[in-house]
Amino acid sequence: MQAGVSAKLEMQRHEKSRRLLPGLTVNEGFMRHPFDLEHGVRTSGLIAGRHLATGHRHDRHATAYYGVAPSVLHALIRRWQRSQPAAPLGDFTFVDVGAGMGRAVLLAAELPFRAALGVELHPTLARIARRNAAIWRASGRARAPMRFSCRDAASFHFPKGPCLVFLFNPFGPVVMRRVLRSLASAFAARPGQLDLIYVNNEQEGILEQQSGFVRLFLGRIRRSPADAKADRAILNNQPDGEYAAFDYEDCSIWRWMGARPGPSSS
Ligand SMILES: C[S@@+](CC[C@H](N)C(=O)[O-])C[C@H]1O[C@@H](n2cnc3c(N)ncnc32)[C@H](O)[C@@H]1O
Repeated sequence: MQAGVSAKLEMQRHEKSRRLLPGLTVNEGFMRHPFDLEHGVRTSGLIAGRHLATGHRHDRHATAYYGVAPSVLHALIRRWQRSQPAAPLGDFTFVDVGAGMGRAVLLAAELPFRAALGVELHPTLARIARRNAAIWRASGRARAPMRFSCRDAASFHFPKGPCLVFLFNPFGPVVMRRVLRSLASAFAARPGQLDLIYVNNEQEGILEQQSGFVRLFLGRIRRSPADAKADRAILNNQPDGEYAAFDYEDCSIWRWMGARPGPSSS
């Protein structure tokens, strides 16, 4: 009897962990981030890119899932606000490209943006993000409407009006190039209407090659001591130590000035 009960419990535990994406079980080093403990949401976890398969041709370019440090996003938005954006914050739509479980969208929605949108390729992550958004709304923390779109970043249709695009190192060079091309085409006739915040900017060189963007900031943003402590604990807990923990993020901020017209044929 005792053995039967424990076998059943073990099976239930196994079933539950099987349903979770790799990297979201305690055995795989999962620890809740204080952001989740404080707000009752679910944005913790480190999921390697190879475990984010959806069947899309861009899967193999995904880096990993990890939520941005709130202090880093706050510092970058403050810095961006000082950069004389083309319009007041309330006219901008914040778009997190590679939104994961939605931590950055939740944080952005605490500000009175026109809207805070998330684009996420993986359906499980997008589903969790939508649930988090419902919790955020119910808690009264959201000052901006939030929406999540489960699709590939390169095929996302950016909304009308000024946009602040956020990227937390979501993908490698191939997808980065395609997303920048799609942005350049969507904003071709809208110079100054697109700003971009890039955290852990591994593909900075691709942005440098894309004409029409001007860099407003390049540098390291330090995590708050609380965020540094939390991220260090989480990353040091990885069983295989695949990802390194730093107390800062390499970041940049860019503004779309419009593509220069090509050489005239006449
Ligand atoms: C480092 S996480 C960032 C999470 C979120 N931006 C945040 O800061 O909390 C990167 C996310 O990008 C997503 N991603 C990768 N490739 C994508 C693509 N082609 N289209 C949309 N999302 C993608 C991954 O699934 C992952 O959730």
